[in-house]
Amino acid sequence: MYLSRATLLMSGNCRLPAATSTPEPTTGSDSSGTASALPLSQPGIPEYLRSTYHWAYLSELGQVLLDRPVVVSTILWGNARRLMAAAAAEFTPGQKILQSACVYGDFSPILARRVGPKGRLTVVDVAPIQISNCQRKLVPYPQATARVADAAAPLADEVDGVCCFFLIHEVPEDYKVRIVDNLLGMVKPGDKVVFVDYHRPHSFHPLKGVMALVFQWLEPFARILWDREIKSYASRAEDFDWTKRTYFGGLYQKVVAVRRPAR
Ligand SMILES: C[S@@+](CC[C@H](N)C(=O)[O-])C[C@H]1O[C@@H](n2cnc3c(N)ncnc32)[C@H](O)[C@@H]1O
Repeated sequence: MYLSRATLLMSGNCRLPAATSTPEPTTGSDSSGTASALPLSQPGIPEYLRSTYHWAYLSELGQVLLDRPVVVSTILWGNARRLMAAAAAEFTPGQKILQSACVYGDFSPILARRVGPKGRLTVVDVAPIQISNCQRKLVPYPQATARVADAAAPLADEVDGVCCFFLIHEVPEDYKVRIVDNLLGMVKPGDKVVFVDYHRPHSFHPLKGVMALVFQWLEPFARILWDREIKSYASRAEDFDWTKRTYFGGLYQKVVAVRRPAR
């Protein structure tokens, strides 16, 4: 979850006791919301999501309160538009793109418009409630679908690129490795994975102290991104060309990994 005054206000009782993962219902739905007849093997909700982010992503109240462009903008200190545009600009019309988790606000529609009617956007998320919500937003875009899947587990989709927007900071270290490797493993030579996430702000950044507190209080897996490069989670980093750009005094980063031609 990106963090902000809004989340701080909501956070009084946000932490739930840790729970073990339980399987999700075995039916799915396509982007039209139609229930599919075939049973789908859906992932359980990871323990970190239940115990740390239940209020934000698994509850309807969290969704109603947070899924508004103005809230998303506030949470990202006014940088939401810029970061979303920077991520979307990495892709081109006609491409098949995977978005590795739902995002509050209108990021998925932005990506759907970016790939255009001749492209394809597939959004995955491990939480069924997030997928239903995303499917509603994608109704005007027949080129886009959303389904339940864990970004850390193999995904069968054939894609030209992957967009991982503010997911890495929300997951524990072992999941960071699994997600980064899994997403990198999906792209062909010349294709890219784009990560947008938190980054260490400059020493005198006025929000550095606030963000450190926020991470300590609400985002236990985020602070490490101040000390570790996203690239360092990749088991085969040498197979990619990596570029990084930071934003807003270093608080945010966009990392682009382009797969090198096979040797
Ligand atoms: C992309 S992140 C954060 C985005 C941003 N903070 C926001 O407000 O939308 C949030 C999403 O990640 C999803 N998520 C967490 N772990 C996941 C995983 N392993 N695979 C796929 N989705 C995951 C959550 O269910 C949630 O919908």
